[in-house]
Amino acid sequence: MLYKNARIENAEETRDIRVRNGCFEEIAPELSPREGEETEDLGGRLVLPPFVEPHIHLDATLTAGDPVWNMSGTLFEGIECWAKRKDKLNAEDVKDRVRRAVRLYAGNGVQYIRTHVDVTDPSLTALKAILEVREELRTLADIQVVAFPQEGILSFPNGKELMEEAVRLGVDAVGAIPHFEFTREYGVESLNFACELAAKNGLLMDVHCDETDDDQSRGLETLATRALELGLKDKVTASHTCAMHSYSNAYVLKLMRLLKMSGINFVANPLVNTHLEGRADTYPKRRGVTRVKELTEAGINVAFGNDDLFDPWYPMGCGSMRDTVYLGLHAVQMMGYGEIMNSYRFVTENAAKVLHLGETYGIREGNPASFVVMDAGNYHEALSNNAPVVLSVRKGKAIARTKPAVREIAE
Ligand code: FE2
Repeated sequence: MLYKNARIENAEETRDIRVRNGCFEEIAPELSPREGEETEDLGGRLVLPPFVEPHIHLDATLTAGDPVWNMSGTLFEGIECWAKRKDKLNAEDVKDRVRRAVRLYAGNGVQYIRTHVDVTDPSLTALKAILEVREELRTLADIQVVAFPQEGILSFPNGKELMEEAVRLGVDAVGAIPHFEFTREYGVESLNFACELAAKNGLLMDVHCDETDDDQSRGLETLATRALELGLKDKVTASHTCAMHSYSNAYVLKLMRLLKMSGINFVANPLVNTHLEGRADTYPKRRGVTRVKELTEAGINVAFGNDDLFDPWYPMGCGSMRDTVYLGLHAVQMMGYGEIMNSYRFVTENAAKVLHLGETYGIREGNPASFVVMDAGNYHEALSNNAPVVLSVRKGKAIARTKPAVREIAE
């Protein structure tokens, strides 16, 4: 298969892409079709590596309004709504929603997903269902699973045992939620426990870390220290780190040294954090998004995630990575032209680093032929015009196509 006229990652010049046996065989200008080779003209459209969703909760996805809508939009009413929905949770319900969510993602060019799954459930219903259903969804996406202790590790009955059981069942990453534990001490102990569990089992880590406006929430320094001392380094991701938005600049100055040494990754979730944080503020209201610009400038890896997709905590979403990038750039004031052009990296290569996808991710000869085509000439245009992903190719196979809308305006 020969794809003609691809504008790969905002390149000035177009290239042709030859795909054979599911891999990129040749990427060069002006390739001629071989005898009998099928061709498709991409017309100079933007070609990117597949999108990566680095932070979502698939166990709760697609439940907004069922059985009740969150009328205040707050985190706490979200928890009340979820408590009412949780009664209906069973394996088939979870699998059905995950299938639908992954199809939404596929239509928007997302081929890799990291989902957090609540393991503060003695029966681990959702976890078992997601571990099962991910196998049948491999043609559309790779799904990484994080054992996420929604109600804490030390603050929930048998929290440690449930985490250990989740590891036995086959999760890819260990989570924690230090700011939610009953005490600061429990928060520290939960991080020590989670880091050791990950190190012992050779797993990745992704912690819901300081998802609060409380500037005294200091889980991040403990997580980064343990990541450094245990040699986990870039296997570790700190998700949210909203409190960093509110830390004093003097403390951040000191913290940055540790963060750089630790090598950990960050995931910001601008849609959900701007919506749920700052709720205890009157005015001025904080945005609650971590210091993406400063972290990026310090050479620290930052990705953007959606966090929620049409659930009690976030009532919108269509499985696209576009909105989190679009809002994220506004919220963290990274609207310079170069910043906008490069911002696709928050949901491609930076997110791929979070998931440890390795060298086989990316548009390079020899790699699996996975890429997306957007109806735009570059990413600035794609973001500004909300351009659709017109084609998603995964390991050489077209798995999703979208026809751009045609608009007619009267003279
Ligand atoms: Fe989350």
